[in-house]
Amino acid sequence: MSLLAVKNLRKNFGGLAVTDNVSLTLEPGNRVALIGPNGAGKTTFVNLVTGHLKPDAGSVHIGGVDLTRASPTRRVHAGLVRSFQVTRLFPEMTPEEHVALAVLQRLGRSAQVFADYRGMDEVMDEIGSVLDLLHLTPIAHTRVSDIAYGQQRLLEIALVLALRPRVLLLDEPAAGVPSTDTVLIEKALERLPPELAVLMIEHDMDFVFRFAQRVIVLAAGAVIFDGTPEAVAADPKVREAYLGSYADGRDGA
Ligand SMILES: Nc1ncnc2c1ncn2[C@@H]1O[C@H](COP(=O)(O)OP(=O)(O)OP(=O)(O)O)[C@@H](O)[C@H]1O
Ligand SMILES: [Mg+2]
Repeated sequence: MSLLAVKNLRKNFGGLAVTDNVSLTLEPGNRVALIGPNGAGKTTFVNLVTGHLKPDAGSVHIGGVDLTRASPTRRVHAGLVRSFQVTRLFPEMTPEEHVALAVLQRLGRSAQVFADYRGMDEVMDEIGSVLDLLHLTPIAHTRVSDIAYGQQRLLEIALVLALRPRVLLLDEPAAGVPSTDTVLIEKALERLPPELAVLMIEHDMDFVFRFAQRVIVLAAGAVIFDGTPEAVAADPKVREAYLGSYADGRDGA
């Protein structure tokens, strides 16, 4: 039984299949990149898996449990957690407060106790270790509006980790980050718990090749490749749909 099993997932928008019979499985510890041209259906796929969109057909199981019709919140409790392509942080709040909210949400203790979280030793320890893992401790008390965009994206990873995922879906975690700072994101992903299954959407192929043990390519809603990073650049269908210029550039290098 796979940790995450997605079977024959379909979604049509206005008669057009944007998710076209997609099946894939993830096992604990997997590091998978989901790539494909703009509009290929990568974010839609994540939205279907996390319950932010309803599929027209297909199924989603976590650890053998059918979550196809479960709410996003129930899926998070089952260990299925995602980040968003565009940041969703509160500019006036600090990283510590953000992580506190995420931890309290996981514990089912949200709003009422937020004012008092500093008095809760276990919550404070957990906030400290999550912020440490992402190297955000020095700016734990700085308002988000005053921290660099790369650090905001690290904070988003901290927030999803605070939910203690078993499967993590990252939608372009480095999008919008200056290239000098993408290394921070990359290093942070290297420090993720080893047993966590991670599927990352990413356009930067050098990053993809350093991160992934396995690459899945979506084109026009369908999986056209699922295999090793070594094989993907040589695959004729992938070259035609997406990677032609990248692969040619490498050949010439
Ligand atoms: N709510 C919606 N209603 C109608 N069409 C939609 C909706 N959401 C997405 N689409 C369409 O579905 C297709 C897939 O979009 P999606 O955002 O999943 O692509 P993507 O692979 O994530 O692209 P990008 O790399 O640009 O983020 C696109 O053609 C998009 O216009
Ligand atoms: Mg997208």
